[in-house]
Amino acid sequence: MPEGEGVLRRALGAGDLIMLSIGAVIGAGIFSSIGSAAAGEFDAAGHIIRTGAGPAIVFSFVLAGFACALAGLCYAEVASMIPQAGSAYAYSYATLGEVVAWIIGWDLILEYAVGNVAVAITWAEYFKSLLGDFGVVLPIWLTTGYRTALLSPDPAVHGLLNTAPHVGGVAILVNIPAFAIVALITWLLLLGVRESARTNNVLVAIKLVILTLFVIVGVTHLHPENYHPFAPNGFSGIHHGAAIIFFAYIGFDAISTAAEETKNPQRNMPLGIMGGLAICTVIYIVVGVVLTGMVPAAQLGVADPLAKALTVSGFQKTSAVLSLGAIFALTAVLLVFQYGQPRIFFSMARDGLLPRWAARVHPKYRVPWATTIVTGVAVAVWSMIGDAGETYDLTNIGTLFAFVLVCIGVLVLRYKDPTRVRPFRVPFIWVVSLGGAATCVFLMNGLPHVTWIRFYVWLVIGLVLYLLYGVRHSVMRRRAAGESIPDSGESW
Ligand code: ALA
Repeated sequence: MPEGEGVLRRALGAGDLIMLSIGAVIGAGIFSSIGSAAAGEFDAAGHIIRTGAGPAIVFSFVLAGFACALAGLCYAEVASMIPQAGSAYAYSYATLGEVVAWIIGWDLILEYAVGNVAVAITWAEYFKSLLGDFGVVLPIWLTTGYRTALLSPDPAVHGLLNTAPHVGGVAILVNIPAFAIVALITWLLLLGVRESARTNNVLVAIKLVILTLFVIVGVTHLHPENYHPFAPNGFSGIHHGAAIIFFAYIGFDAISTAAEETKNPQRNMPLGIMGGLAICTVIYIVVGVVLTGMVPAAQLGVADPLAKALTVSGFQKTSAVLSLGAIFALTAVLLVFQYGQPRIFFSMARDGLLPRWAARVHPKYRVPWATTIVTGVAVAVWSMIGDAGETYDLTNIGTLFAFVLVCIGVLVLRYKDPTRVRPFRVPFIWVVSLGGAATCVFLMNGLPHVTWIRFYVWLVIGLVLYLLYGVRHSVMRRRAAGESIPDSGESW
């Protein structure tokens, strides 16, 4: 909300923030990427890319949760100082300057849009699993993305490159359910549908009930021998596992945008962020212990490991219920991120860093429709042909990088702008800021080389776009050069 347009009602307490956090956080990470974090990852030739944590996945959860807790405190301070829709982009624009802001904004595409590609593909896996429980089997070439076939170490999936229908020499491998769910969510968002607090509470309840059900059923089918060896790949497996499972925590940063609507943010913001993280960490650890006790960790490298564990243990019906619950949980996550991305683009366009049409708001539905459609089309098409594993990694590296910048930014601001009102102040700022940045960099180092290359390429493309477009169109720069630019209207 632009400054001076009024004050939002401070209605949210710590409990509300915790519910919001759980709503945005629990999703594809715990329902899917936990599998490869435990089992490790292999390339199409069957060579190991990354070792897994094995049953020691519990320590991976603690490590990733610790990084998030430190970054979360830093988010709470900047968000309470600069409560705006654009999240870390808006905070850095207001404080660290345009270039850093552009880099963060560009980087957040990896967290929001690319993250949603991973969530949509996982959604489709659970959808497929649910249909399978009812005896419905869709043609595999209509539920598998081209890149998944290309990268898969499973000969049956990789072989689809030859066996799928071909058009003009190219194998037609498209993930139609993933495309469809993103298209549906985009349409809902265009109508102005936003997950309300009440819907969120219902979805949180569903997630918690489903995971509790999994734990209760799973606990009766533990095989102690599955816990040996506990950490088959030592600390390096735990480290790799943490870098993968970090995805399961993404989303808690979104609640920092509610800072202006929080009662007593000094107390409630850290309680909300830390409380949400603590609850999710405990849930994740319990699910991790049960999952790795049900099935040998090496067999968990599938897209729907929780459903697989139940099926392997003979609970076909429970597996169907779990798949249904996962579908709800993932739909909620898709909605949050598909809602967030267009608003970040919107903020960037309002500052002149993206074309003016990207800041258009629909006069009737009051949504940034242009960016909602662009985001929807891009995420839907990528979900249709993409691979979940590689998009998880890109999301993780991008989000961790944003966390590093926010952790450092909060410290810089203490010196650059010491007198600004801070409704919440990070305690032990040096320790939290530098410790948070260092832990996030450490987790980034657990990601494969190829992810780093993709990440650098992404940043270079972003900088080139900024030099070609943003520098010349930046509202701030044009104002500084004496051009008169009217305040951007809300809808054109
Ligand atoms: N943390 C969210 C999920 O796991 C992004 O789906």
